[in-house]
Amino acid sequence: ARKLGSRKERTLALIKPDAAPRIGELIDIIINAGFTITKAKMMVLSRKEAMDFYVDHQSRPFYNELLQFITSGSIVAMEILGDDAVSKWKMLLGPANSGVAQTEAPDSIRATLGIDGIRNAAHGPDSIASAAQELELFFPSGGGRGPANSAKFINC
Ligand code: PPS
Repeated sequence: ARKLGSRKERTLALIKPDAAPRIGELIDIIINAGFTITKAKMMVLSRKEAMDFYVDHQSRPFYNELLQFITSGSIVAMEILGDDAVSKWKMLLGPANSGVAQTEAPDSIRATLGIDGIRNAAHGPDSIASAAQELELFFPSGGGRGPANSAKFINC
């Protein structure tokens, strides 16, 4: 049953190249947290697609490193649905830097499956607006196909 005061939301659970081999563990965590996986695809992003995804970080000193990493191997994009999904998924992820996560949130996904600030296992949008924007990139609503080199699993 839906809890009072909670909202069903959709967000993007993006499994990065370092954690893609541990997709099973991540799916267990997502399902056990009460989410429904409504869409899923696996892909290797092109540099251009990665630039679109990380457009907000283009002035950060680590931007190029970030692009290199996210394009370095297969990633898995999932649309997940649940109560307060955006903040709940961020909470499960823990702090962005896996090293920090290991002291501040030792049970979090970044602490248990990630390594450092860049190889941090998974990504989640930090607002409802960016969730909608990022989901649109991976799962376009207008019939577009999204990232070119993708294998579709569920409903997309
Ligand atoms: S922070 O701590 O506020 O800068 O973190 P945040 O803004 O959430 O980080 C955004 C993404 O940048 C990545 N990141 C890095 N990449 C490479 N090198 C360094 N030093 C670094 N620091 C942060 C981090 O993994 C975040 O990626 P996403 O995809 O959002 O997890």
